[in-house]
Amino acid sequence: MLIDGFDRRVDYLRVSVTERCNFRCQYCMPDKPFEWVPKENLLSFEQLFSFVKIAMDEGVTKVRITGGEPLLRHDLDKFIQMIHDHNPRVDLALTSNGYLLAPVARKLKEAGLKRINLSLDTLDSATAQKIVQKDVLAHVLEGIDAALEAGMEIKINMVPMKGINDHEILEILQYCKAKEIVVRFIEYMENSFANAAITGLSSDEILKVIGTEYDYEDIGLQKASPSHYYRLGDGYKFGIIEPHKDDFCSSCNRIRLTAEGYLIPCLYFDEAKSIKDAIQAGDFDRARTILKEVVRDKPEKNRWSDPENDEISSRAFYETGG
Ligand code: 5AD
Ligand code: SF4
Repeated sequence: MLIDGFDRRVDYLRVSVTERCNFRCQYCMPDKPFEWVPKENLLSFEQLFSFVKIAMDEGVTKVRITGGEPLLRHDLDKFIQMIHDHNPRVDLALTSNGYLLAPVARKLKEAGLKRINLSLDTLDSATAQKIVQKDVLAHVLEGIDAALEAGMEIKINMVPMKGINDHEILEILQYCKAKEIVVRFIEYMENSFANAAITGLSSDEILKVIGTEYDYEDIGLQKASPSHYYRLGDGYKFGIIEPHKDDFCSSCNRIRLTAEGYLIPCLYFDEAKSIKDAIQAGDFDRARTILKEVVRDKPEKNRWSDPENDEISSRAFYETGG
C-alpha cells in the first residue's frame, strides 16, 4: 500500500501519454510550446505499462490516461487493452478533449475503457473557437454522443472564465442534466502557461449563478473524488472542483506520470522524479523505490489555496493532464 507523509492513501495513478494537443485552450496551452518533446524521448506503451503494473502491485486501483490529448497517440486502445487484460477490475478511465473521439469510442470501450471525462466549456461554436482557437464544437458534441452510445460513463468538465463562458454555466448544466451526465465545474487554476488575462470563477460565484435558477443541497466531498457535490431538487448531481479551498488536498489520493517518465507528486509544484532510466534498464525494483519516494514526499497541499501566495504555478497542465 502507498501511504504518503500525511497519512493519505495513494491508489490513483494518472498517466499522460503525450503532452501534444490539437487544442490551444486559454487556460492550458494558448501558445504551442517552443518545442514538443521529441517522440523518441517518450516512454513506449510497453514501458508505461511496466510502470503501471508496478503501481498496481503497490495498491493502485484506478488508472486514468491523460495528455495533452491522449487520442493523438496512435493505438491508444492497445495500451488500454494491456492494462485491462492485466487486471480487468482496475478502474480504467480517460480524459480527452473529445475532438477525435467519435470514430474510436466503441473500440476504446471494447479494449476495456470504463469511464471518460470530456471538456465542454461552451455550447456556442464562436465561443469554442475563442477558447480553443479552433472550430471544434461539432466534433466534440459528436464525441460525447458516441461515448454515450458505446456505453461509457461520462463526466463533463467546464472551466468557467469571466467574460468568456461564465454566462453559459446554466446552459452547460442543463445540457448535461438532459443527457443524465455529471458535470463538474472546475475553478480555474492559475499557471504561467495560461493566458494571463483569464479570471476564473470561484466555487461561490458558480453556485450563485446556479442558485438563480435552482435550489440545491450541498452533499459534500465524495470518497476519492476531488469534487464537492451538490444535488438539485430533482436528484440531479453536479460537482465543483475547488482547488482554492483550504481542505481540497486533504483527500488527495493521486500521483501523475508524464509521457517522458517523470513522476509528479502534485499538480501545483515543479518537483518530479524520473522513472525512465530505471524502466528502460528493466530495473523495476529501482522504479518501485522511486515511486515510494515520490509518494513519501507528496506535499501537504497546493498553493492555490494559500491566500499569502503571490507566486504562480509553473507546472504545465498539458504535461500532467490536469
Ligand atoms: N485550470 C482548471 N482546469 C484546467 N484544466 C486544464 N487546465 C486547467 C486550468 N488551468 C482542465 C480542463 C480539462 C482537463 C484536462 O483539465 O477542464 O478538461
Ligand atoms: Fe489540450 Fe486539454 Fe490543454 Fe485544452 S486543456 S490545450 S484540450 S491538453
